[in-house]
Amino acid sequence: MLEGKRILIGITGGIAAYKIPELVRLFVKNQAEVRCILTPSASAFVTPLTLATVSKNPVASELFDAKTGQWTNHVELGLWADIFIIAPLTASSLSKMALGHSDNLLLTTFLSAKCPVLVAPAMDLDMYAHTSTLENIDKLKKMNVHVMDAKSGELASGLSGQGRMPEPQEIYDQAEAILYSKTGRLKNKRVLITAGPTYEALDPVRFIGNHSTGKMGIALAKQFALEGAQVTLILGPSKENIPAYSNLSVTRVESAEEMFCAVQALWKQMDIGVFSAAVADYKPTTKAENKIKKSDATLTMELTKNPDILAWSGANKTEQYLVGFALETNNEIEHAQAKLACKNLDAIVLNSLNNAGTGFGYDTNQISVINKANKITNFELLKKSQVAKNIVNYVIQDLP
Ligand code: C5P
Repeated sequence: MLEGKRILIGITGGIAAYKIPELVRLFVKNQAEVRCILTPSASAFVTPLTLATVSKNPVASELFDAKTGQWTNHVELGLWADIFIIAPLTASSLSKMALGHSDNLLLTTFLSAKCPVLVAPAMDLDMYAHTSTLENIDKLKKMNVHVMDAKSGELASGLSGQGRMPEPQEIYDQAEAILYSKTGRLKNKRVLITAGPTYEALDPVRFIGNHSTGKMGIALAKQFALEGAQVTLILGPSKENIPAYSNLSVTRVESAEEMFCAVQALWKQMDIGVFSAAVADYKPTTKAENKIKKSDATLTMELTKNPDILAWSGANKTEQYLVGFALETNNEIEHAQAKLACKNLDAIVLNSLNNAGTGFGYDTNQISVINKANKITNFELLKKSQVAKNIVNYVIQDLP
């Protein structure tokens, strides 16, 4: 939620401008206040009426009204905003911003803005790759402007390559991360999160897996990133969307073995680990090279224990703060406490399968957290995003 946040969106004359009403809606839906500024050429791509309707605010475009001579106060707009987003940013406006031109309202507002500025350049692939564009992007970065990389894909010219504006949701995520990072309490911390299921291959087409979706771990990664931490998410097969934050990187893995390798490579340099992955305890001892044919009435398969990634990390931790998850069906507290001790954890999050609305696939979860001092903190049934906030707050308070 961005309740009360003031978002100024500048739109320049590129075809991707047609997606900006969707971006405005995302902010409005999340309770932010939105105002839009158009360059003169942008209104050929998206109408002021559309933007005024979705933002519920008048749209600004001219430095002054030609009929009345009334002046639009660009300084006021720049001071009003908590963040100024310019998307799409054409090569032309980009070059003007790099040089400090001020021949329209959007540019004068940029020059007088005191808030963070986020831009999403979008243009044809050759323009995007041109040395002058690259130099202009560099200049903006030196001015502390946050620049989103253009995406690759089909372009308005019919060509295909890098130059597309990131999707509205990605721009929204990036803006949210910038707004939160100002108040982030974990700015210098590196956080490692495991999430999702693992798939253990039987043959080229089959696997042993589980119903984990990765929702809880992704919500945690997002929350840690919003607190300003440098987050690495090691994610098993999951179809969930991951927010596009510059301080959140994702490593995709399939099997427990791959997840283990990824954790081993990174654990030493981390400050905090939160392991929420539903790792398969066993894998087929051998993976058949070809698809296993059905023949006999029964099929016996030998399974081998997977490495316990959390236990390895607990055994190999120095100063790190390590959190594990426990999903229990009986004697929950005792089992979780035993896990906390034997895996050398600082805290364990217990979710009971006995509670309605908790566990795999649900958008809600009910947890208890137990720490090293055996203090048990119970939380109510909440949305996973709120559960993630509670876990992050807990970790921040419990850090040594
Ligand atoms: O022992 P159990 O599997 O119940 O422990 C669950 C916790 O251990 C979770 O935090 C899970 O991510 C982690 N785990 C792991 N590697 C395994 C099994 C579990 O990291 N092989």
